[in-house]
Amino acid sequence: MSDHPETGLPPWTYTDPEFLALERDAVFSPSWQIVCHESDVATRGQYATLDFLGTLIFVVRGDDSVLRAFRNVCRHRAARLLDEPFGACSSRIVCPYHAWSYDLAGRLIGVAQRERYAAFENDDYGLVSVELREAGGFLFVNAGDEEASFGDFIRPMADEFARYKTKEMRAFGRITLRERDVNWKIAVENFVDYLHLPVAHNGLDGLVGASYALSVEDGACVISANINSAPDQSLSARAYRKYLPEAAHLPPDRRRQWRYVKLWPNLAFDTYPDQIDFMQFIPLSAERTLLREISYGLPDASRELAAARYLNWRVNRVVNEEDKDIIERTQAGMKSGVSPGPIADDEIGLRYFAERMREVLPVCRNANRPKTLREA
Ligand code: FES
Ligand SMILES: [Fe+2]
Repeated sequence: MSDHPETGLPPWTYTDPEFLALERDAVFSPSWQIVCHESDVATRGQYATLDFLGTLIFVVRGDDSVLRAFRNVCRHRAARLLDEPFGACSSRIVCPYHAWSYDLAGRLIGVAQRERYAAFENDDYGLVSVELREAGGFLFVNAGDEEASFGDFIRPMADEFARYKTKEMRAFGRITLRERDVNWKIAVENFVDYLHLPVAHNGLDGLVGASYALSVEDGACVISANINSAPDQSLSARAYRKYLPEAAHLPPDRRRQWRYVKLWPNLAFDTYPDQIDFMQFIPLSAERTLLREISYGLPDASRELAAARYLNWRVNRVVNEEDKDIIERTQAGMKSGVSPGPIADDEIGLRYFAERMREVLPVCRNANRPKTLREA
């Protein structure tokens, strides 16, 4: 389709709970959602949970070392089973409500006060399993009911995972969960909006100067920047440049590059010579979004690398605060109902996102909210 929208999506799509319900079916149900890295669940009984638009999921390492994913819901009275974002259990999962228990392969193995029930087969009440895929050591689940091609989704990162050796990486921080008062699309669009970088991110700009490049390929939007190009640098940026060791496993053009890759619909990887993190934008409501993020790096004891990672964190901590301000003020403006204006010709990430949304949900071509969003 040669449709080149001049503007972004209309304001009502950023505030409407019913529209979020449409997105859940059309955008998220056929999507893949990242849970963690396989090293986060390295030993048996270790698990990671993901709550996504009301679907509760966990990944767990079994007694046989196999990783499996299940709905995080007891088959008795449907109580939630596991609570921690990342945690560990023994060789059984015991429901806090009436103590039914499951093994790590999801089989129902214990029914408390069984004599009180009419006869039933345990096999009929195992945990509901969820499709699980791995790429570059990262684990993904299909959070909805619809089939989606995992290959298409992950293709833009496949070579990158190999290049950065992500399979050998380990988390070096905890998972962070930060809530923002925005619709998920505002957060995602801000991630691919590159004209704001020199305006709103002084510190980052002082690290990479005007070296930003933007591309859209295979459904992924990539912004890259070179940390050697800026003349004026903050203390953190200068120190980062100084301590960052030569990442010999990377091609020369990547050894000094910061690279942001955004996959459809709500996942991004921040790729640095010293580490990689994922940032997942999880809708909590039409006007609230959770940023779920964690950093991974190759095991390496060098003090220079530790210093570089710390300084990277310092630079990005500021970037995150600056982005919080920008996205929340945009949400407030969208909520006030004023329609956004033109998108710059070279903001191809924003254009791609709006076009894809219009393709998947044609109803968002309407400048004003139609009375009914779903056709009867
Ligand atoms: S709801 Fe889990 S044991 Fe009753
Ligand atoms: Fe930003």
